[in-house]
Amino acid sequence: MNASEPLQQRIQRLRDDINQHNQRYYQLDAPQIADADYDQLMRELETLEAEHPELITADSPTQRVGAAPLASFQQVLHQVPMLSLDNAFNDSEFEAFDKRVRDRADLTEDVTYLVEPKLDGLAISLRYEEGLLVCAATRGDGQRGENVTENVKTIGAIPLRLKGDTVPAVVEIRGEVFMPLQGFDQLNSAAIAAGEKPFANPRNAAAGSLRQLDSKITAKRPLAFYTYGLGVLDGMPLPSSQSDLFLLFAAWGLPVCDQISTAKGVQQCHEAYQSLADKRAKLPYEIDGVVYKVNSFRLQQSIGFVSRAPRWAIARKFPAQEKTTQVLSIDVQVGRTGSITPVARLAPVFVGGVTVTNVTLHNEDELHRKDVRIGDTVIVRRAGDVIPEIVAVVIEQRTAEAVPYQMPTLCPVCSSPLEKIEGEAVIRCSAGLYCQAQVKESVKHFASRKAMDVDGLGDKLVEQLVAKKLVQTPADLYSLTREQLLSLERMADKSADNLLQALEKSKSTTLPRFLYGLGIREVGEVTATSLAQHFGQLDALQQASAEVLEQVPDVGPIVAKHVVSFFQLAHNREVVNTLLSYGIHWPEVKALTKTQHALSDKVVVLTGTLSSMTRDQAKAALQDLGAKVTGSVSKKTDFLIAGEESGSKLTKAQSLGVTVLSEEAFVSLLQSNLDLTD
Ligand code: IVH
Repeated sequence: MNASEPLQQRIQRLRDDINQHNQRYYQLDAPQIADADYDQLMRELETLEAEHPELITADSPTQRVGAAPLASFQQVLHQVPMLSLDNAFNDSEFEAFDKRVRDRADLTEDVTYLVEPKLDGLAISLRYEEGLLVCAATRGDGQRGENVTENVKTIGAIPLRLKGDTVPAVVEIRGEVFMPLQGFDQLNSAAIAAGEKPFANPRNAAAGSLRQLDSKITAKRPLAFYTYGLGVLDGMPLPSSQSDLFLLFAAWGLPVCDQISTAKGVQQCHEAYQSLADKRAKLPYEIDGVVYKVNSFRLQQSIGFVSRAPRWAIARKFPAQEKTTQVLSIDVQVGRTGSITPVARLAPVFVGGVTVTNVTLHNEDELHRKDVRIGDTVIVRRAGDVIPEIVAVVIEQRTAEAVPYQMPTLCPVCSSPLEKIEGEAVIRCSAGLYCQAQVKESVKHFASRKAMDVDGLGDKLVEQLVAKKLVQTPADLYSLTREQLLSLERMADKSADNLLQALEKSKSTTLPRFLYGLGIREVGEVTATSLAQHFGQLDALQQASAEVLEQVPDVGPIVAKHVVSFFQLAHNREVVNTLLSYGIHWPEVKALTKTQHALSDKVVVLTGTLSSMTRDQAKAALQDLGAKVTGSVSKKTDFLIAGEESGSKLTKAQSLGVTVLSEEAFVSLLQSNLDLTD
């Protein structure tokens, strides 16, 4: 150390140097100093900070590792939801997407897209306040993720503080954490040498590494990160395009993938796809396709999004990987609602990054259509994270012994007759909850992460509980005693206590989770949320007729029928009452208040024809949320809601840079609390 240099200045210089070396090492792949010299700088900084703890700052490179292990991850509500992407699997699906983009934006000329590799890792949101990394969260269900800040801080490629003079008050950066191939191979070799189970693929390794409660373990994993998008941006204007946004990211010191290009029109898009497909095998990390994003933000806004994914972006997946293997046997599984699914058991085959041993054949029709027989050689395909499938049988290799598979007529679990309902492809076991397979599946579903989220209640445990008749309905879970749990295989004192605690914790839930957990047919998470929002209370929903139910967005006659029949069954009502008597509760479901909603106090203009409601209904809904509905577009207009055949108002809004919402975007905004403003 230079003796004359003041301490604070020396510390700052060390931090700056280390950060710069980090950037050169992780982002530019061009280290300027040897590892040993880097370690020397780190050690000097650590020593100075240990001697002067009052000088430690949150963004010091020494603060990347150091937090104590967590007991569990806290939940983080994403201020702006983390959306997913729709997929295109071939040229024509991409072309159809491009046409939809041009139709929606009313364009005849070619659209400019940004073409990015689709990184095969996991999405993360990084929140920087006044430039300092304050929170990192996983995507979770898109609305809520897990707080993995301590782990993310250990990833060298992610800056703890943004660089430059243009740092906004608040910014949420979206990007992908992944594990480069070299690091993945090393990690797996070490695991095998230590007699541990290797990770199936780099994506699982990245996800497993990020979800460690002890950040010291994450720190040892070779994780990397590339930025690709934005959640919140406060305190500075949004750039005009995705490509300008990337320039800003780079200026802030965030790592940006160097394989990004622009493409104008369909032909250039196809070429960019092919070029990345050709480079794929040589890239140091895994990609499973390319992502096309409309480059201009003004255009993006006019195109809007649906609740799950933007309509201005699409992922074009690389073709699936295919391998051949042998069908060892075929058997059937009984699902939660009694559905009978034929499953082919295969000689293990490594395809698309995982070892496949079981493949669903979906239903009897599909089984016969593909005519899969025991002993057949089959082509197995797995694309990205899509479940593996049998593409076809290699008929030339079929032997004389292979006879067509006959579906059973009795349930393999409870021996009740199987029935086929008119108009449905599936065969069902008629025994309902007298069938132990259905009991097992409904308990698993009830306890699952998206439902009651009972931590530690895995499939194997549920299977034992049901087999021993300790649990016959979800409600029985809450009367389990410590002694009963200790009578199970591989259940130690601590695990029993943890499970009892997790069950207790799960009693405090939300109405949508509870409804979803009941396992009513056709009621997924989204429908459960719509039902909860519409009825507010369980009682009202239980008593609703099919006609009333059909007024709920997202609920058609089939769903309505299933809801009514579910609550008509005395057994189900009893289970629900017992669950409530055990103290399951949720916060009251309230409609969003006017001031909370993204449309409150906004000046909104309606134009064109809306298909899901009349103009008056739309106006009433807007006014209900505190929006001001006016007749003409001006600079003061916040949103233009454009239905079919929008005319001059749309053109004017676009020329003034007013945010244009499609009908779908408007409807999902009515149902949610998304903040569209930047
Ligand atoms: S953009 C609003 N860009 O793919 C758009 N996603 O299938 C949100 N992914 O959850 C995503 N590379 O984890 C985007 N260049 C890229 C990406 C990318 C990988 C992942 C991401 C997302 C998933 C959707």
